[in-house]
Amino acid sequence: MTSILFDEALSRYATQMSSDELPALTALERETYLKEMQPVMLSGHLQGSFLRMLCSILRPSKVLEIGTFTGYSAICMAMGLSADAVLHTIEIDEERKEIAQKHFEAAGMQDRIVPHYGDAKLILKTLKEPWDLVFIDADKPNYTHYFDLVFEELKIGGIILADNVLFEGKILLPEEEQGKNERAMHQFNKKIKLDKRLEVLLLPIRDGISIIRKIAK
Ligand SMILES: C[S@@+](CC[C@H](N)C(=O)[O-])C[C@H]1O[C@@H](n2cnc3c(N)ncnc32)[C@H](O)[C@@H]1O
Repeated sequence: MTSILFDEALSRYATQMSSDELPALTALERETYLKEMQPVMLSGHLQGSFLRMLCSILRPSKVLEIGTFTGYSAICMAMGLSADAVLHTIEIDEERKEIAQKHFEAAGMQDRIVPHYGDAKLILKTLKEPWDLVFIDADKPNYTHYFDLVFEELKIGGIILADNVLFEGKILLPEEEQGKNERAMHQFNKKIKLDKRLEVLLLPIRDGISIIRKIAK
């Protein structure tokens, strides 16, 4: 996905001046573009590197991802984890299981990643862990719901990352011109901004990614 805030040339430059993509991730990206109808959903090299860097810095023990897709961001985050840390990732579409599992193994990350298949709204009710880091990257109308489902288990000082918070810039459209996704994202952004238990930084990377830190119960 090309960022609305970054022209193509700058995006290419940022990619060139960052560490190279690992061959295992390039292979997954290629297969995703060959087999998926909406390959742009994949985080890609810059955002994936950001996720990995954040995990390398924070060293979380328990990580949750909502929205595995073909596994690109899960592999990036897993690569930034210590060997005893674990990443749970949830995907509703079981047809993506084979490609994701193949690449988890090719990247040597299969022991750090626990995949779950099914609706995150149901799985989250059974998956109660003291999360250090949660990456929300699934269906936009449910971001608020996912946030509420994971907040209690999120440790104080823990981080929620929310992807696509600028939704191609459409969050700026007048409300009557917004579709359900951008309206949901704007509502989500307003809700977390007003929540006094949180510290929020909306970064205009790619499609917008918010770093949300829990500072109080
Ligand atoms: C934007 S993609 C995730 C991209 C992935 N995180 C990456 O960067 O490579 C969103 C994914 O969320 C999944 N999804 C949508 N609704 C879901 C739900 N209710 N429960 C679990 N996964 C869901 C979609 O099937 C899709 O694969």
